[in-house]
Amino acid sequence: MFAVSPPAVRLADDQTLARKVTLRPRPAVPALLAALVLAASARAEDKAATVELYAEKCALCHMADGKSPVPELDLTDGKWKHGSSLAAIEKVISEGVPTTAMLPFKEQLTPEQVKALAEHVRAFDKSLQPEKGGGKKGTK
Ligand code: HEC
Repeated sequence: MFAVSPPAVRLADDQTLARKVTLRPRPAVPALLAALVLAASARAEDKAATVELYAEKCALCHMADGKSPVPELDLTDGKWKHGSSLAAIEKVISEGVPTTAMLPFKEQLTPEQVKALAEHVRAFDKSLQPEKGGGKKGTK
């Protein structure tokens, strides 16, 4: 009797364990898909929010598509008086350009919004390549 029952018990334990192990990954699949879909729609929402923010705070002077008839305000002409790097553009948005109508926006915007706006206006200039490692990949 004693010689038979312990292996039987162990077998039952193993089966329970196996069932737990094989079942566990299954609920993660729909969860992962949902997370991917959410991440994609969050990115689309971010983009829409940036376009809206630009329309609200910047388009008045720089025009909706960045194409202003005033050369200093034109963000599409390939000339970047203060530098065309993402960092340089972020700095202009945060700090403004002293003695001009380009006021500092750092009090009104979060660093993420400044970054998103910098990417947005930089993309107006079709002669520039998107900056690698400029944050798009690093942030979600
Ligand atoms: C009241 C008008 C006004 C508003 C609003 C405004 N800007 Fe400007 N912006 C200017 C002027 C004027 C200049 C040119 C400054 C100069 O002469 O160097 C400028 C310059 C810039 C430059 C530098 C361009 C270059 O050639 O280097 C960037 C980038 C920029 N603005 C982005 C923005 C963004 C983004 C917003 C919204 C958050 C914004 N601006 C809102 C007036 C404005």
